[in-house]
Amino acid sequence: MDRIVITGGAPLNGTIPIFGAKNSALKLQAAALLSSEPLVLENMPDLADSRFMAQLLASLGVEIAWIKEARTLRMQAAEISSTIAPYDLVRKMRATFNVLGPLLARAGHATVSLPGGCAIGARPVDLHLKAFEAMGADIHIEQGYVKAAALRGLKGADIEFPFVSVGATEHTMLAAVLAHGDTVLRNVAREPEIVDLADCLNMMGARVEGAGTDEIRIQGVTSLAGGKHAVVADRIEAGTYAIAAGAAGGNVLLQGARFEHLGALIKVLREAGVEVDAESRGLRIKRDRTQRLQPVDFTTEPFPGFPTDLQAQAMALLCFADGESRIRETIFENRFMHAPELARLGAQIAVHGNEAVVTGVERLVGAPVMATDLRASVSLVVAGLAAEGETTVNRVYHLDRGFEGLEAKFRACGARIERQKEE
Ligand code: UD1
Repeated sequence: MDRIVITGGAPLNGTIPIFGAKNSALKLQAAALLSSEPLVLENMPDLADSRFMAQLLASLGVEIAWIKEARTLRMQAAEISSTIAPYDLVRKMRATFNVLGPLLARAGHATVSLPGGCAIGARPVDLHLKAFEAMGADIHIEQGYVKAAALRGLKGADIEFPFVSVGATEHTMLAAVLAHGDTVLRNVAREPEIVDLADCLNMMGARVEGAGTDEIRIQGVTSLAGGKHAVVADRIEAGTYAIAAGAAGGNVLLQGARFEHLGALIKVLREAGVEVDAESRGLRIKRDRTQRLQPVDFTTEPFPGFPTDLQAQAMALLCFADGESRIRETIFENRFMHAPELARLGAQIAVHGNEAVVTGVERLVGAPVMATDLRASVSLVVAGLAAEGETTVNRVYHLDRGFEGLEAKFRACGARIERQKEE
């Protein structure tokens, strides 16, 4: 398995291009199942997860053409040749479960394995399934598979989610666009990726209103066309590089990063003493490392709150603050697995239930560490870049799921980071 070796201490100076959002791209890929015409996604991230989703779509009959130089993916589901998403293709990545709704809406039935994904909590799919039931689908779980049928089509429904779920919001949208009649979704997620999905579906001829608010209204249509859509910039990728520049110091332009998508992080960065400015081309991050960072308390919440996907990276930053920071994780119950790894570099972190207390230290010292999940892995890279000496991050396959060209982007800004291939 590959590992990443970092010699810390070099400030980051330069420009980092921000690519399309993984979490958006995966749902947009699933949207290709809704139309017999081609859907072309521009600004497509070339990641293990997006390649994996393409592989699953191909097994369902979607013709895939990936023009890597143009960062473009063309998908055409002229016919659905299979409505079965097998365990081997779904267990590795939770977002593949999102093919269920489109298959159900277009073909009237589907058999999809229950999902796997990062080991950050139980992550059930009960909200997804209840929404499909409310739309008239028959749902059974047999031997680890969800068997769903709506042979006369899905019906529009009024659905109030008991709590906010990004996945359930998107998945229900992906089915409701082809349902008979109107659907109202209440207490939905407001993430920028939801807006991106609504924009793409509307470009295909769907009638989705209210994305970005807590209520989405969808008027079902009988068919969708194809078209072209550019994937929204990855706010988690941008936020990660912003935090890395804050921790290592320097002056970095995050090209394409959107200020309005990163409000909660920017507030934390500024309170900690990192300068963040919006420029026409993106976000400028500056930090002078001779000044000690300040401690900050924050809580993860659905958008526009602080994203859980940036919690680990922000924890790595606050390890260097002059005082005590409190971090509360409210989205996933098992998302502090990076804390003991950061402690190997000398961080002082006490975890009590869903709260972590980080007592800042003046310096961290490099050590071998182990990546446990996608965002936790990159927090170890952030810590390693700002630590003294050599940090080796083992098991980096997690990183390849969500960060395209990570080492090259950091190296272009002066970081000493390289990948060692292992047999
Ligand atoms: C998505 C993101 C993930 C991010 C998360 C929260 C993708 C591919 N992944 O995950 O990176 O961390 O949003 O911003 O877009 N839940 C249930 N039942 C359900 C659905 C969810 O109990 O049917 C729970 C989850 O276990 C979790 C909470 O709801 O505790 C929120 O999860 P959700 O917003 O659905 O996250 P994902 O869509 O899985």
